[in-house]
Amino acid sequence: MKNYSDLWLGYKKKTHNRDCKNLNKISFTGVDETDAVAVNASEELKTGLKTMLDIEPEIVFGTPGVTGTVSNGSEILDNEEYRISLSDGEIVVEAKSGTGILYGAFDILRTVAVEKDVIEAYGKGIVVRPSNPLRMLNHWDKMNGDIERGYSGESFFFADNEIVINERTRDYARLIASVGINAVVINNVNVKDAASYMITDRYYDKLAELGEIFAGYGIRLFLSLNYASTIEIGGLDSADPLDEKVIAWWRTKMAEVFDRIPTLGGFLVKADSEGRPGPFTYGRTQADGANMLADIVKEYGGIIVWRCFVYNCKQDWRDEKTDRAKSGYDYFHSLDGKFEENVILQIKNGPMDFQVREPISPLFGGMENTNQMLEVQIAQEYTGQQRHVCFLIPWFKEILAFNTHMKEASVADIVSGRVMGNKNAGMTAVCNTGDDYNWTGHDLAGANLYGFGKLAFDTSLSATDIAANWARLYLSQAIGESSFAKRNGEKIVNTVKEILMKSWPVYEKYNAPLGIGWMVVPGIHYGPDVDGYEYSPWGTYHKADLHAIGRDRTDNGTGYVSQYREENKKMYENVETCPEELLLFFHRLPYNYVLKNGKTVIQHIYDTHFEGAEEAAKLMEEWKSLEGLISKDVYERTLERFTHQAEHSKEWRDVINSYFFRKTGIKDLQGREIY
Ligand code: GCU
Repeated sequence: MKNYSDLWLGYKKKTHNRDCKNLNKISFTGVDETDAVAVNASEELKTGLKTMLDIEPEIVFGTPGVTGTVSNGSEILDNEEYRISLSDGEIVVEAKSGTGILYGAFDILRTVAVEKDVIEAYGKGIVVRPSNPLRMLNHWDKMNGDIERGYSGESFFFADNEIVINERTRDYARLIASVGINAVVINNVNVKDAASYMITDRYYDKLAELGEIFAGYGIRLFLSLNYASTIEIGGLDSADPLDEKVIAWWRTKMAEVFDRIPTLGGFLVKADSEGRPGPFTYGRTQADGANMLADIVKEYGGIIVWRCFVYNCKQDWRDEKTDRAKSGYDYFHSLDGKFEENVILQIKNGPMDFQVREPISPLFGGMENTNQMLEVQIAQEYTGQQRHVCFLIPWFKEILAFNTHMKEASVADIVSGRVMGNKNAGMTAVCNTGDDYNWTGHDLAGANLYGFGKLAFDTSLSATDIAANWARLYLSQAIGESSFAKRNGEKIVNTVKEILMKSWPVYEKYNAPLGIGWMVVPGIHYGPDVDGYEYSPWGTYHKADLHAIGRDRTDNGTGYVSQYREENKKMYENVETCPEELLLFFHRLPYNYVLKNGKTVIQHIYDTHFEGAEEAAKLMEEWKSLEGLISKDVYERTLERFTHQAEHSKEWRDVINSYFFRKTGIKDLQGREIY
């Protein structure tokens, strides 16, 4: 018995009578048996179809390179694309690479798992191509087994400063490949202690083994790198990117690293941020640092993913012009076009740090000639830490759809490489997994893992469809038997979909109001503490006093708004056109400022907090309606989390409402109890 769940890959027996003749023979065209990924695809199909339908399909491999054109003969399939069609009633999966074949195999398995008709699904032929070149997960796992911002147990990659490889490793690769992830950073961005030695003999063999397992599922292994390795493990006295000694050290080191870990995709670097070393120490730019490494790893096909989360976390609160939100753009914008072709800038969705609501980082649209990758966080650091349900895909959809007004491109257009015609681009998520039985602590947080992969693979999918499909795949598997429709299947799917789709707005309601963010307990980032960060040196102020609240980020204030293209600048700087959910992020307003719905800011705070707590309790009731319909362990584990959320949301409500009531002395119009 495995000590972890198969999540959406838990192939379960389908009990209804199904005509399986289309599945008895499946042809893979474009690859042969020497392709390890295609072989894994064939194994996966065999296992899945055997378990679900009790059939043993014959898998016929083709010849590499002979295909790759779609039916009208005009289009050549790209590397990770696949085409599925029926030929004489038998399924043909066509791709240029094993990875394309693997994605096709998972497509077929999903079709069977949700009991869709094969002819209906593939009769007309489908061609599927990923939206983004890179679809990455960033694990913040530490080598001692802890996970920075981990809410679902310990690391399954590391324990006691060793790399762990076991059955779960392969199952992890299967799971994430099944939703289209093709790159994984296994270690925390804050590289210290044992992790600095990842690029030494101590860990090469294990990393090579791990990289090989990943490669078998079309996934490239990446490592977070300690920028100051020359000092910390190299015995040099400098990490100056322009210093010849430093460059020579890296040259030798990288030759060794890529020789010993041949499947390595490259590195992720957090430099000059939150105490991590970087090029600034030597008066150099971020481009100097990134390019030095990129130039060296280029010959091995390596990529340097360089984070833009660079800011001074020790700002002076008296300085009204200093604004943490501005720092990413300030440091990187002027470097546009100066990065090597194998550098990708990894940009957090907002200018701050994964708050429940933030504007889009002005770096998207601020750079026209630089590879960019969107970084989101499915580890729910600020969104309920996988104890509250918070389905983030609707939020990611909004982020991707944002018009940057750089050539009228949306964020999705930019990170897919469509606008600049670049291949080094994509989406990454700070991952929410750990060694808990259900991988993500909260069972419903699994929808964020599944959903991120699906969305990164196809940014046109709707959040509702993703939610419904996840529920269908995961909870139908959890039931442990088939004929989903017969066993109240649609009720389960609809209820869970509703809960998921409501969850982010509900969480936002009882959190910090109108985009101001940061009302969490410092350090742990869990639970309400309105002034927790207000009087800390980290520079994330709401500036609430008895008259007003919010940060003026117009040109009269910090000037942040001028980092956007003209159209967006105009929208944000005018209180009338600024989206209300971001009002206090951009403007400082009196509590009696009247919102579009006629309510004052203070009344909005009271109302949303009462509503948020009530709605959280309702989500729990909706969950309770599934008792007996889904597996007992999923039901109970999740109910426990809902019970906590319902209580904790009341705490949020009370702490925030009483803070503002006491600060302003303004009474709730509805006379509800505020302490
Ligand atoms: C947040 C988080 C840190 C993390 C950092 C980062 O600040 O709290 O734990 O290291 O983001 O993204 O680098």
